[in-house]
Amino acid sequence: MRLPTIPSVSLLPSAAAAMVLCLAGCGQSTSEPSSPVKPKQAKSNYVIGMSQCNLGEPWRVQMNADVEAAAKQHPNLKVVFKDAQNDTLKQRAHVEEFVSAGVDLIIISPKGAAPLTEPVAKAMDAGIPVIVLDRRLIGDKYTSFIGADNKRIGKAAGQWIVKKLGGKGKVVELKGLMTSTPGQDRNSGFRAGIAGSGVEVIFEADMKWLEPGARKEMESALSRYSKIDLVYAHNDPGAHGAYLAAKAAGREKDILFVGIDALPQEGVAYVSQGILSATFQYPTGGAEAVDVALKVLQGETVPKEITLGSRLFTRENVARGGEPLN
Ligand code: FRU
Repeated sequence: MRLPTIPSVSLLPSAAAAMVLCLAGCGQSTSEPSSPVKPKQAKSNYVIGMSQCNLGEPWRVQMNADVEAAAKQHPNLKVVFKDAQNDTLKQRAHVEEFVSAGVDLIIISPKGAAPLTEPVAKAMDAGIPVIVLDRRLIGDKYTSFIGADNKRIGKAAGQWIVKKLGGKGKVVELKGLMTSTPGQDRNSGFRAGIAGSGVEVIFEADMKWLEPGARKEMESALSRYSKIDLVYAHNDPGAHGAYLAAKAAGREKDILFVGIDALPQEGVAYVSQGILSATFQYPTGGAEAVDVALKVLQGETVPKEITLGSRLFTRENVARGGEPLN
């Protein structure tokens, strides 16, 4: 599938730096310099390898569906999907398999930053462009990164919570996998958002993005603390797991729950049902990844970094479709 001789294209830095890209659903754009792109010789059909870290959460199922739907618009694109089932070694092997198969481009949403950095670097060394979606790698050996700004979302969540609690309160923070960058950024952003207020984190735990993990950690929090005002979970499955634990203990009406992702059928539905007080949208970037992949395959320059926008959904605004994050 890959051609052995790849002509390289040198970019004019000024032109690259001036490039601004805003894709559909993107509330914010970046003007990062493009990474050097090595276009293949003109081909009529392309194979893209899509390495998904797991399909256990609806959000990741949605990401794959978004990739598939966007790719369907282009009959010359074929996407091969691999699901690592939350197993880092499996995901490393999937990237290596894509390289041996000679796919034209790889899209990856990595489980953790460190373990996937090396296989992606090797794919790049083999001349295969790599688009990284949602969770980051270490360093900058990839073609383009696409994702929303998790620090910004975490900070907005912190500020919203301070306001909601009238400046003070006792909060449980259920963190996403802390070896993944969204977990780290949703934590540091949140801490910046509540800094200087009377909002206090009384219990924190890594629920690794998983609803059952969140439920278990929340059971510990409930047994230790008789007063909890709010749970801030790094994703909606986490917020829902915490809600289920509180409900089982008969305490769900005393506690507010806030999550992130805002899928229509998940977080937004929870807000409409009164289960969550708020959720912050985290777009999958699937459609944008296919758009960027096509550009790369056609030898166009693409931004090194594409930042997607976010929306806030609350009980007050959910019926009118939420509001953009400022
Ligand atoms: C799904 C998920 C989402 C979250 C994202 C962060 O696996 O946990 O809920 O927003 O990954 O990478």
